[in-house]
Amino acid sequence: MSAATAGQGAVLSGRRVVLGVGGSIAAYKAASLARLLVGVGAQVRVVLTGAAARFVGPALFAGLTGEPVATDLFEPRTIDHIALARWADAGLVAPATADLLARAALGLADDYLTTWLLAFPGPVAFAPAMNHRMWEQPAVRRAVATLRADGRHLIGPVYGPLGAPGEGEGHGRLAEPEAIVAALASLLAPRAPTRFAGRRVVVTAGPTREPLDAVRFLSNRSSGRMGFALAEALRDRGAAVTVVRGPVALADPPRVRVLGVETALEMREAVRAEATGAAAVFAAAAVSDWRARAVAPGKWKRGGAAERTIELVANPDILAELGRDPQGTVLVGFAAEAGGDLAEARRKLDAKGLHLIVHNDVLHPDAGFEVETNRVTILHRDGAVAEVGPLHKRAVAEAIVDAAERWLPE
Ligand SMILES: Cc1cc2nc3c(=O)[nH]c(=O)nc-3n(C[C@H](O)[C@H](O)[C@H](O)COP(=O)(O)O)c2cc1C
Repeated sequence: MSAATAGQGAVLSGRRVVLGVGGSIAAYKAASLARLLVGVGAQVRVVLTGAAARFVGPALFAGLTGEPVATDLFEPRTIDHIALARWADAGLVAPATADLLARAALGLADDYLTTWLLAFPGPVAFAPAMNHRMWEQPAVRRAVATLRADGRHLIGPVYGPLGAPGEGEGHGRLAEPEAIVAALASLLAPRAPTRFAGRRVVVTAGPTREPLDAVRFLSNRSSGRMGFALAEALRDRGAAVTVVRGPVALADPPRVRVLGVETALEMREAVRAEATGAAAVFAAAAVSDWRARAVAPGKWKRGGAAERTIELVANPDILAELGRDPQGTVLVGFAAEAGGDLAEARRKLDAKGLHLIVHNDVLHPDAGFEVETNRVTILHRDGAVAEVGPLHKRAVAEAIVDAAERWLPE
């Protein structure tokens, strides 16, 4: 048993997990998931949707888990959904189809699995799998945002080869079963009494927008996901969280204070005001290094010009400013670098006076901007280094908050 599996075993052993399987071509991977969960000592009961049962049969899961398998809400011989809701400690829906995400987000109860989801008050994680165009649909994005706001967890999907021949690669592939089990274990891990409880923290998230004229701006691809995952992890540890975020497409995380800003200068002002007396600042925003020296009042006209020169001036480095006078605040920086070399991250850690810096390689397809997963290296000011992921950004956030706790005074 590897160290990672042993850790998961400690969390999942004896836990009662309902594994809901949707009608995706990835349904066959649910068999590996069931086997892994049983392998780390979980008790697993499988619920197949009608569509899933056309891909994989109940006998397979009954054999793997040694437990009855439910499919039909009106089948009197299987355990009823209310009894199964009482039995379970956690739910894992994998693969979660677009259809299941939509039904669960709406609170429909039109088959066994969705009725069980409504009857079950405990933690549930969804691991979606679908064609990348389906995953990008606004309807699917809305369902995912609703599920998140309702406190459901999302694991993946990840970038990679998609199921059907000729589909190519894309963002929509089911996370690997090992990664799903690790993410579930991290979600269910009992949290030691946390030093962040009752403390005030500031998290920055998303990009900034630097206007060039009345309609154009300079920005970057930051989605805000990593910052929001940190805010939720800190909130769930009892911290009073303020998020200062640039313009993002995501719904604001529930139960945290959110200040919306647009430019780097606005973000600096908000962060400086909020950081005073805060226990920690997590600077996950991708603040633009530059802004236009002058913003044109109207809209630039093409005017037949073949070239246009934009003069840029450097924006202030918000975190470095805080680092010059930290006043006991734990400072956590992020270094999104193109490539795996840690030297630049270490230089920033020292130069800015940070306690830790989180390095991620934005060239990696399952890390960085616009994806649900991340893989990072956490560098501490005393030289300690930890590699995390690839994992769902929420699981990565938990690891970063754990690392920051080390520097928080009792
Ligand atoms: C061969 C095949 C593969 C499919 N793969 C997926 C998939 O990966 N993801 C998805 O969301 N839907 C997929 N579908 C569509 C779902 O099976 C369909 O939406 C079904 O209604 C889902 O039902 P369920 O959510 O109750 O499991 C696939 C359908 C077929 C026929």
